Amino acid sequence: MAQNESAAHATDGTDREATAPADGKVAVVTGAGSGIGRAVARELIAAGWHVVLAGRRRETLDATADRVGRVGAEGPAVVPVPTDVTRPEDVDALFAAVRDRFGRLDLLFNNAGTFGRPGPLEELSYEDWRAVVDVNLTGAFLCAQAAFRTMKEQDPQGGRIINNGSISAHVPRPHSIAYTATKHAVTGLTKSLSLDGRPYRIACGQIDIGNAATEMTGRMQTGILQANGQTAVEPVMDAADVARTVRHMASLPLEANVQFATVMATNMPYIGRG
Ligand SMILES: NC(=O)c1ccc[n+]([C@@H]2O[C@H](COP(=O)([O-])OP(=O)(O)OC[C@H]3O[C@@H](n4cnc5c(N)ncnc54)[C@H](OP(=O)(O)O)[C@@H]3O)[C@@H](O)[C@H]2O)c1
Repeated sequence: MAQNESAAHATDGTDREATAPADGKVAVVTGAGSGIGRAVARELIAAGWHVVLAGRRRETLDATADRVGRVGAEGPAVVPVPTDVTRPEDVDALFAAVRDRFGRLDLLFNNAGTFGRPGPLEELSYEDWRAVVDVNLTGAFLCAQAAFRTMKEQDPQGGRIINNGSISAHVPRPHSIAYTATKHAVTGLTKSLSLDGRPYRIACGQIDIGNAATEMTGRMQTGILQANGQTAVEPVMDAADVARTVRHMASLPLEANVQFATVMATNMPYIGRG
């Protein structure tokens, strides 16, 4: 299995010296080849986590591994595992690889997602609907289920799952029914995982993000349809600011949990009806 062996120095500006090690705890980050997943992988590595990077494209996972580097021969491992989260056999292979390599799993950042094709709902094709549901809901479920099974069976028992929801888990954008419906469904996943995880020391929380500057939010920066029918450029924030929040959620003892956290560009249209 591929493993990044690059040098200890941080080329990304991350201050590794200032962070306490996570004692070699093991995390899986899905959607780790870009955007928020890449930023979270970077934060976790900086905090001393071993991080398994999942996503469909090998080259972007490798690029993430190259950027986050490795903290010396004894430092955290960065392990890319190409995975399509919509394929049960891929998800099984991902978590089997984690167990083979590390013997346990402490954190899943369940992040892989897609916005889908925007457009009027009466024109949405079945295939476009399914494509969003398959990644955002079924993929998130498959990864959470595999993580849950691993965390329940391992000794010491337990772990944490952090689902990536959205402001769209609360309110829709125009022409986004598949994205909005699946992100509301992620809230249901989070609540069920939290309840069903109690007997096994499995904590589950959700981060709801608004307008982090990534590939997915390119339209916010050029102009996106608003509820009043106008098109407007919206404020964005740095994905690194999201990643620091995930790192905090991940760092808590299993007896404590951030159940829901909303991190958004301060002036984006959400609070105050626009
Ligand atoms: N940016 C924001 O403001 C914002 C706001 C709310 C919620 N979110 C959520 O944050 C998450 C990450 O989004 P992002 O903004 O970082 O956008 P992004 O850069 O487009 O990241 C999406 C990631 O998901 C992966 N992915 C997509 N389909 C996959 C599949 N079938 N299997 C495995 N991986 C898959 C992609 O990698 P491959 O294409 O290589 O598979 C990619 O790395 C999403 O769940 C999104 O809904 C973002």
